[in-house]
Amino acid sequence: MELDVLHSESATEVGSYFVANYPPFSVWSPEHVPSALKALDSHGPEGDTVPLGLYLHIPFCRTRCKFCYFRVYTDKNARDVDVYLDALSQEVSLYALRRGLLGRTFDFVYFGGGTPSFLSSDQLERLIDAIRAHWSWDRAREVTFECEPGTLKKSKLETIKAIGTTRLSLGIEHFDDEILEINGRAHKSPEVFRAYEWAREVGFEQINIDLIAGMMGDTEGKWRATVAAALAMDADSVTIYQMELPHNTLIARQLKESGGAVPIADWSTKRAWVDHAFRRFEDAGYVVSSAYTLVKPSANGRFVYRDAVWHGADMIGAGVASFSHFAGVHFQNVDEWDDYLQRLDRGELPIARALPATDGQLLTRQVVLQLKLGRLDADYFRRRFGVEIVQMFREGFASLEEQGYIAIDGDRIRLSREGLLRVDALLPVFFEPQFRKVRYT
Ligand SMILES: C[S@@+](CC[C@H](N)C(=O)[O-])C[C@H]1O[C@@H](n2cnc3c(N)ncnc32)[C@H](O)[C@@H]1O
Repeated sequence: MELDVLHSESATEVGSYFVANYPPFSVWSPEHVPSALKALDSHGPEGDTVPLGLYLHIPFCRTRCKFCYFRVYTDKNARDVDVYLDALSQEVSLYALRRGLLGRTFDFVYFGGGTPSFLSSDQLERLIDAIRAHWSWDRAREVTFECEPGTLKKSKLETIKAIGTTRLSLGIEHFDDEILEINGRAHKSPEVFRAYEWAREVGFEQINIDLIAGMMGDTEGKWRATVAAALAMDADSVTIYQMELPHNTLIARQLKESGGAVPIADWSTKRAWVDHAFRRFEDAGYVVSSAYTLVKPSANGRFVYRDAVWHGADMIGAGVASFSHFAGVHFQNVDEWDDYLQRLDRGELPIARALPATDGQLLTRQVVLQLKLGRLDADYFRRRFGVEIVQMFREGFASLEEQGYIAIDGDRIRLSREGLLRVDALLPVFFEPQFRKVRYT
């Protein structure tokens, strides 16, 4: 079987690398929206035995990072933000009326963006009060809140804690001020240190920091200095991404308009940089918990959201362009501001495209997502799906074994470090043939 190692040995090219879902987003379509609505009024084969999560998309930022591919706005005023938050709470309240969701509570909540910490304390409190009129998350095992360090004040962190946040995630990305500037980040390193100090004083159960290997202008020396600075912070967990260049980023647009070389290190350099970071953090007692994360075992280094989604949880994604998964159906909201607001003004769920996944696709989805943890447990799939995955995916596993990326020992399937560092490029071998080469988003 031919292995489709997308970009993996080569220069960074424009296009998506990260596999966040299966089947790929690009094959979801408007004609399936009725299936999503129907699923929301049903209980699905696994009913409410799977956890339920809520993702809230806060699409505002102080500036647009040149590498960012998310739906974000940098030109909205306080009035616009209020209008959006009203629509967002209206959307979440509409879900409370669906039959498939009656009586359920959120096991995990994720404030993502954009920049949730762009909101003022007042705006945040109003949003939470409106949502809590219909939903409770008092029993949530995790409430994550993403922050851009330069938007934080101690009083805002106190509000973020008061709404129930257990896990604060700081988008640091790099500690070199010149690199932050070149890449269009809104903050500089002094704001990071200040925000971190306040966050510790306020006392969150878990503080996570995000880094990116291979930002524009990054060098071996600067990356090593960033890893050393990140280690010194002593965070409970660390997330490290390899810089990718999806089509809808400012860098990709500039390249298309004026040509020139891609200003990002190649994939083998980025892998070597992440490997260096992994080793330094492991030496300090952290444990690798996925292709992108390390946790300090003694601390509350949990990833409830990640683990639930990768094991097939239901998740309602509210907000412009948000993604959801419910009772086996994938769906995504409209991705235009006016469209989103108008749909909610009419009292409709703003769903734009969907895909009811087949049983086989739901199985493949969990196989590929859990492989990103660096390990698979065949017995989990036997119990949950009644299948022998080593048999079912033997060709894919064999091609990865031949190349030394994976080792299978009975029910334990493990990626080597080399496999883990390029896992997203390896996953298409498990896809159905028609999805192996499709554009991802
Ligand atoms: C949705 S972003 C939100 C970050 C938050 N708004 C902030 O400004 O700190 C979540 C994380 O995705 C990662 N990320 C964003 N664009 C990326 C890219 N092109 N390549 C790799 N990682 C990326 C960054 O580490 C970022 O912190």
